[in-house]
Amino acid sequence: MDHPLSWPLGLDSLAYGGDYNPEQWPEEVWREDVRLMRQAGVTMVSVGIFSWALLEIERGMYNFGWLDRLLDLLDENGIRADLGTPTVVPPAWFYREHPEALPVNREGIRYEFGGRGAICHSSPAYQDAALSITEKLARRYATHPALALWHVHNEYGVPVSACYCETSAAHFRRWLTDRYRTLPELNSAWGTAFWGQRYVQWQDVRPPRLTPTAGNPAQQLDWARFTNDAILDNFKRERDMLHRLSPGIPVTTNFMTALSQCESLDYWAWGREVDIVSNDHYLVAEAERNHVNLAMSADLTRAVAGGRPWLLLEHSTSAVNWQHRNIAKRPGELARNSMAHVARGSEGAMFFQWRASRFGAEKFHSAMLPHAGTESRIWREVVSLGADLGSLGSVRGSRVKADAAILWDWQSWWAQKLEWRPSTDLDPRERADTWYAAAYDHHLTVDFAHPEADLGEYPLVLVPALYLMTEASSRNLARYVRNGGTLVVSCFSGIVDSHDTVPPGPHPGALRDVLGLTVEEFAPLRAGEQVLLAGEGQQLTGDVWSEFVVPRGADTVWSYVDGPAAGHPAITRHPLGYGSAWYVSSRLSARDVGAVLTRACSDAGLIERRLPHDVEVVERVGATNHYLFAINHSSTDAVVPLPSPGTELLTGAPVTDELTVPAGATRVVRHA
Ligand code: GAL
Repeated sequence: MDHPLSWPLGLDSLAYGGDYNPEQWPEEVWREDVRLMRQAGVTMVSVGIFSWALLEIERGMYNFGWLDRLLDLLDENGIRADLGTPTVVPPAWFYREHPEALPVNREGIRYEFGGRGAICHSSPAYQDAALSITEKLARRYATHPALALWHVHNEYGVPVSACYCETSAAHFRRWLTDRYRTLPELNSAWGTAFWGQRYVQWQDVRPPRLTPTAGNPAQQLDWARFTNDAILDNFKRERDMLHRLSPGIPVTTNFMTALSQCESLDYWAWGREVDIVSNDHYLVAEAERNHVNLAMSADLTRAVAGGRPWLLLEHSTSAVNWQHRNIAKRPGELARNSMAHVARGSEGAMFFQWRASRFGAEKFHSAMLPHAGTESRIWREVVSLGADLGSLGSVRGSRVKADAAILWDWQSWWAQKLEWRPSTDLDPRERADTWYAAAYDHHLTVDFAHPEADLGEYPLVLVPALYLMTEASSRNLARYVRNGGTLVVSCFSGIVDSHDTVPPGPHPGALRDVLGLTVEEFAPLRAGEQVLLAGEGQQLTGDVWSEFVVPRGADTVWSYVDGPAAGHPAITRHPLGYGSAWYVSSRLSARDVGAVLTRACSDAGLIERRLPHDVEVVERVGATNHYLFAINHSSTDAVVPLPSPGTELLTGAPVTDELTVPAGATRVVRHA
């Protein structure tokens, strides 16, 4: 373990369990809960996350008795506790005293109490009250034998991140003063010469509230950064309090790295601030092949953790309750989902939640112990998964081996998603998903990386959407290619700087030199319009986007056959230094991105694995052993070649040069 707080204290196996909300049940049910938890192999539960109103009944009036009894019961049964600070739901009495701490949306409407996460993160009253309950919990439970991990808040950033009230406006101005020092600097960074927005007094600078037409993009981008920082500061306050009063216990807060519902936080910054990166992931239930998005979420979480092991703190045993059609998981899917997270670096699999709620907004959400009780498929699968995870304890601490990297930057997305872009059909998140799917189907294991990160270890780097680029990232990519890397860049990347300003000269300003080309004009396509690309004896199809590419050193590999840019280059390759840089100027499907990947892999010297479709193979490398996870998402049995003989850990069977993975099953081979 590379740093002292990198694992829940006293947990000597993979983490298995879930959110446990016993306050919704009479205490006699708790005994049955822990008995069943033991039967299922549960090792840790998350408690107290939403319990502020039960712990502090009125300001300064506390009732910790029930939590004392609960933690004692868990301890008696050998179950570790991930203890929440309940600061995501301040009690009704708090809002009675401080209605101004309810957040205001962009339209100026104040939210009401009654859901959760109704918080103005700039409110001093909220900050004080949150710290006060955190302090009480830390003082009371710091040395409780059940305590393994602190779970601060819950999913910062959702359901609302920004508050547009006057307190937040003043906070925003302080943040801007730190960043720009003077108003002329701010005016220049925000380009306020446009539409007469120039500021002469700080008091006139406000949050980007609803405007009659498109607002200032640089102002909106700074607002997104400010919002992230304000929330992160609140996390740090609680974390520092816990570190001070409860030394030796790691602190986490559950991220939602790849969920499109939570794009308001820059998790690159957050990952550095937690002791253990933990993540929540929910399938888009209706999506075909939603295991691909799951894999992406796990890979991204591992990247946010700096490659260190991380922890899946929530997913679902079956259906959720908040999508349009909450499709139940099919038999075996629960295990495959959990194992795929573990394969990609999670040190366990936890769920929302242990026992299904009878009342409240989430009563139709699946649980480890469903309404149907133990005479149910879900329960049988939960027990069986507990046993399987129990046999994988030795994978702890091993690290995933990746073949390539994908660049990912939340700040670039915030910028690209603002109003008035050349085509709203070109969505950065969709591009990232599609390019990831292409890599997945090539059986490449990818890490995600920040555009300024050292990329030297990767033979191949993919850039599906990087509209905003800093000078440092531009230099970084050029260095990477010159030193022998293979870079593949998608259209509408390298277009603006960190203030959403176009650098002088033709697009793409930050990438012209490395790609060896300029773009004379964008040529977005009509809804449903497609263009044909020909080259390499292969035709590809693009939609949404085309453009007029002018090679300036790059070679044309595919050209547009039709559409606005017919006859012009569509996909290019630029040999530079010891490496090469590819450019894809249209929006291609995952299959067609795959055709470019095949060429790029050969440039990068990557030998593609010959594996059946939808058989996911990932390796974790430990100090003494290698682990090969093979997850068969298909409906036919698959054979996976093995690098060396070993032992299959779920069946205990010895294996030699190949492994049969039955349809829908997972196998984990340990090699010496
Ligand atoms: C999560 C949240 C849980 C629960 C779950 C339902 O995002 O952290 O508290 O609401 O969703 O899917």
